[in-house]
Amino acid sequence: VTAEKAGFDHFMLKEIHEQPKAYRDTMMGRIAEDGKSVTLSKEIGMTTEQIRGISRVHIVACGTAFHAGLVGKTVIESLARIPVETDVASEYRYRSPIITPDTLVIVVSQSGETADTLAALREAKRNGARVLAITNVVGSSVARDADDVITTWAGPEIAVASTKAYSSQLIAFYLLGLYLAQERGTIDQAQVVDIVEAMHRLPEQVESILEQAELFKGVAEAVSKHDNLFFIGRGLDFAVAQEGSLKLKEISYIHSEAYAAGELKHGTLALIEDGIPVIALVTQEDLYEKTLSNIKEVKARGAHVIGIANSGYEDEVAKSVDETFSIPRTLPLLTPALSVVPLQLLSYHASLARGNDVDKPRNLAKSVTVE
Ligand code: G6P
Repeated sequence: VTAEKAGFDHFMLKEIHEQPKAYRDTMMGRIAEDGKSVTLSKEIGMTTEQIRGISRVHIVACGTAFHAGLVGKTVIESLARIPVETDVASEYRYRSPIITPDTLVIVVSQSGETADTLAALREAKRNGARVLAITNVVGSSVARDADDVITTWAGPEIAVASTKAYSSQLIAFYLLGLYLAQERGTIDQAQVVDIVEAMHRLPEQVESILEQAELFKGVAEAVSKHDNLFFIGRGLDFAVAQEGSLKLKEISYIHSEAYAAGELKHGTLALIEDGIPVIALVTQEDLYEKTLSNIKEVKARGAHVIGIANSGYEDEVAKSVDETFSIPRTLPLLTPALSVVPLQLLSYHASLARGNDVDKPRNLAKSVTVE
């Protein structure tokens, strides 16, 4: 077993450290050598005309994969300009979603065996949608039933709490967003080059966060003494906040809530009391001032704020928070692929500090094959 964990204490920690490789492998062969275009024509059998004819996208998934789908929505909408809705699979089927022949349904599943996701996929097909799967398991049920498949090359994920599968799903969405945008003519080549260059830097940027992995131990130990906390952020930071909150709940059993930073004042602020930890993601530069003002709202009510900020902005953010961690600078659209890493490490160390079984949390299964 030790060998399988390659010297790491837990599968989760090993898998967190495998993310740079997972990113490289998921990008490999899908970006042109000259870095000027993305191609998924082997994965997606749709003609340019069919891609241009897509009028809406539904992203359907469960758990962590659903959170990747929240990022996927922003990626596809901003690059390819197609309206996207993201749903949890167990809700999607029962709300009579509006599915037309020009609806592209994207199902996201690490295992490719989740019953809720599979049922939603079949429902979408029955209604005439084209279904694209993003999955980590070649030949899985989801991969077999979908029309098109983008495989994430994260390698086997053993820990129940998903890490490298989630972040590889983000890479798949970036590739997909770029590809759809190219085919639909909603992006120019210079933009593709910029995004692709920044994507190529992600693996080493993750490595640089991992080199400082021990930094998160202290804050995780402090957090592990609390029973309640908040994750806040705006835009993509809110999507990542939701994943960070889920990760922490899954393995540390600490209750947390992820909130859109601007929405706090409409109710949740009532729960902020002296000493409560608030983890604030502040990576979206155009929303900076707004998020900082929301941080002040919780600080004024006694919260202990831990900020995750872009490198170069950490001094600015440090003025408003109690502790700051910086992540390397990338394009705003790509920050989730970096900002999730400190949150994974935080959950891991908080779970350890509580003496929990990190890789096999209570009540949860890696793959849920019942509805
Ligand atoms: C289970 C796991 C979660 C996972 C979800 C979806 O509930 O405990 O970690 O996110 O299933 O799994 P999938 O394999 O479809 O991505």
